[in-house]
Amino acid sequence: MVYFDNAATSYPKPEVVYDSIMTAMREYGANPGRSGHKMALKAGRGIFETRELICKLFNINNPMNVIFTFNATEALNIGIKGVLREGDHVITTSMEHNSVLRPIKYLERFGVESTIVKADSKGRINPKDIEKSIKNNTKLIVCTHISNLTGTIMPIEEIGSISKENGIIFMVDASQSAGVYDIDVEKMNIDLLAFPGHKGLLGPQGTGALCIKDGLELQSYMQGGTGSSSHSLDHPEILPDKFESGTTNGPGIIGLGAGIKYILDKGMHNIREHEESLAMHFIEEAKKIDGVTLYGPLDVKQQAAVVALNIKDADSSEVSYILDQEYDIAVRPGLHCAPLAHETINTLEQGAVRFSFGLFNTHEEVDYCIKALKDIAREV
Ligand code: ALA
Repeated sequence: MVYFDNAATSYPKPEVVYDSIMTAMREYGANPGRSGHKMALKAGRGIFETRELICKLFNINNPMNVIFTFNATEALNIGIKGVLREGDHVITTSMEHNSVLRPIKYLERFGVESTIVKADSKGRINPKDIEKSIKNNTKLIVCTHISNLTGTIMPIEEIGSISKENGIIFMVDASQSAGVYDIDVEKMNIDLLAFPGHKGLLGPQGTGALCIKDGLELQSYMQGGTGSSSHSLDHPEILPDKFESGTTNGPGIIGLGAGIKYILDKGMHNIREHEESLAMHFIEEAKKIDGVTLYGPLDVKQQAAVVALNIKDADSSEVSYILDQEYDIAVRPGLHCAPLAHETINTLEQGAVRFSFGLFNTHEEVDYCIKALKDIAREV
């Protein structure tokens, strides 16, 4: 099997990730933050270590500001719904995933206004268009760091400066960048950083996080047991307890920590360079195939290792099915939960076949896939 669906979830994971999850489950699979026995304490320490690793990776000063979630969608929902109230205005972009667009659309029922800034046909956002959309009641700007359709890298540092100058909260969806691209929440003026643990960070599914800037007050969305202030019927306001009630995904979070350690040991720039070289190799070869249309900037400085294409007018699901059934190559077709991004690049009808490369992919796999695409392009 050739796995080119790393934008959906990375696979495989480093062996240390599998090992750490199994060890956590087998040897200290107790409930952290509740009891004071040795196993519970060890599980709690493992989770705290992951908080610290996240801080190190993104330059966050307080591990208590890292909220564990089940995925990026949950983190985005906590941030967006925690900030916006009736009468507020939010700016976002046409390149967002439904995990940003749908919560915003939902909030329109409660009197929240939104502006969706349109990207160009390569999925690029002009920060000036964001600036021009600011109104007196703009409370939040939400932008993806990297498009999950075209791999376009967004100018988040510039958007962060615009947000700061205008006193607006800035939220970044780092679903496609965390673990591969540099993110410094201080330098980039990011107030809310949402990301999954199971993509570039190499952790298991069922992990993600929201990092909240010191002092930023968000409305709590769920109340329950936290193991803290248990005498009170009022849910605690302290972080991370305010947003972490119920039993956490301890083994998953410990596995996520192992993934982050692996990335730090290997050097994130080495991972990025490998993925970039796979993507550029793929793009250069795919460009030569008659009938192939490639989307996105197609430039290593502007595009991550996510490449969308179509072959003639063939349905993207059909091409993907042939790749899977006849060549054992896993990709994602369709709309990628990003309908406005498809509208932006004019593929709403056909969808697109998305190839997303990861740390464990090789140039030989790219060559094999190119050969398959040549065959398919002759047949469809
Ligand atoms: N959001 C993930 C993707 O783009 C699942 O495939």
